[in-house]
Amino acid sequence: MGTFSPAGRRGRGEGIWESVELLPGRGRRLVFDANNCIGNRYLSGYLDRVLGDVVQVILKARSCVVLTGAGISAESGVPTFRGKEGLWGKFRPEELATMEAFMANPKIVWEWYNWRRDLMGSVMPNKGHYALVELRSWFQRYTLVTQNVDNLHRLAGSDEVLELHGNIYRNICMDCRQFFDAAVEIDPTAIPQCKRCGGKIRPDVVWFGELLPSEVIDEAFERSAEADLFLSVGTSALVHPAATLPLVAKRNGAILIEVNPEETALSEVADYHFPCPSGEFLPQLLTELRESTCVH
Ligand code: OAD
Repeated sequence: MGTFSPAGRRGRGEGIWESVELLPGRGRRLVFDANNCIGNRYLSGYLDRVLGDVVQVILKARSCVVLTGAGISAESGVPTFRGKEGLWGKFRPEELATMEAFMANPKIVWEWYNWRRDLMGSVMPNKGHYALVELRSWFQRYTLVTQNVDNLHRLAGSDEVLELHGNIYRNICMDCRQFFDAAVEIDPTAIPQCKRCGGKIRPDVVWFGELLPSEVIDEAFERSAEADLFLSVGTSALVHPAATLPLVAKRNGAILIEVNPEETALSEVADYHFPCPSGEFLPQLLTELRESTCVH
């Protein structure tokens, strides 16, 4: 199991990275310059043809893994981390999302998480989240893996979600490991203390430099290694070990599809890159799937 780390700093050369090579694309990669690809008529025609291709891939696949990142929640109003309006452009992660920061200044870290929890609590899942609930029914085996802590996949109706970086609505005592529900058991104005042992309570999310929950990341790797199809949705694919999952899938023969308006570290190796907002692309993909199996 790897630690949570941005690529380039600690990802490469460590653990699983040593056994993964970037594979060349299969020559079917799509890249075009459009943010709203579904709304554009010219691109719609182009997309129709390629979507037909992807529909065939889906109909043949038995096992699918979807990895999501902050981008899937962007259309709900949750800010992403990187990019122009990204949180890490305005705040310093080392002051807010590390154990060192928490030990030095728990109040600030708690304020940051209370702010984010309030923000996430005020938004709803979008069409992309709902599409991923429906997509499940097209595969014998389907695994939804997310780096998001916002709970929006569950709220949309995805009950089995591998949450790699935890969940902002859950807290944990650092001493006795008791879980606490953020909404009902924590006083948002104080630094919470464990009722059972008096220990420090922290948000149950993964901070920089920390290990991911082993049973969750191990299962994500297993499912990725045996997947026929891997969808990377709304992630910059910069943070490992999450960003290693699509590479493991591809290395083991999966078709790799990326949905992201921007190019990422993954675009080079993806079989298909759809530069579209996920809330537009994923429902469109489902429409194509339904139509392809309609008996006329
Ligand atoms: P990033 O902020 O790094 O990347 C978000 C990606 O979403 C970018 O590549 C955008 O281009 C893309 N995007 C934006 N709008 C989109 C839309 N409507 N549809 C599809 N894609 C869109 O977020 P992550 O990759 O999730 O960790 O970041 C990984 C981890 O780094 C996070 O889990 C977080 C952060 O530090 C923790 O805080 C634990």
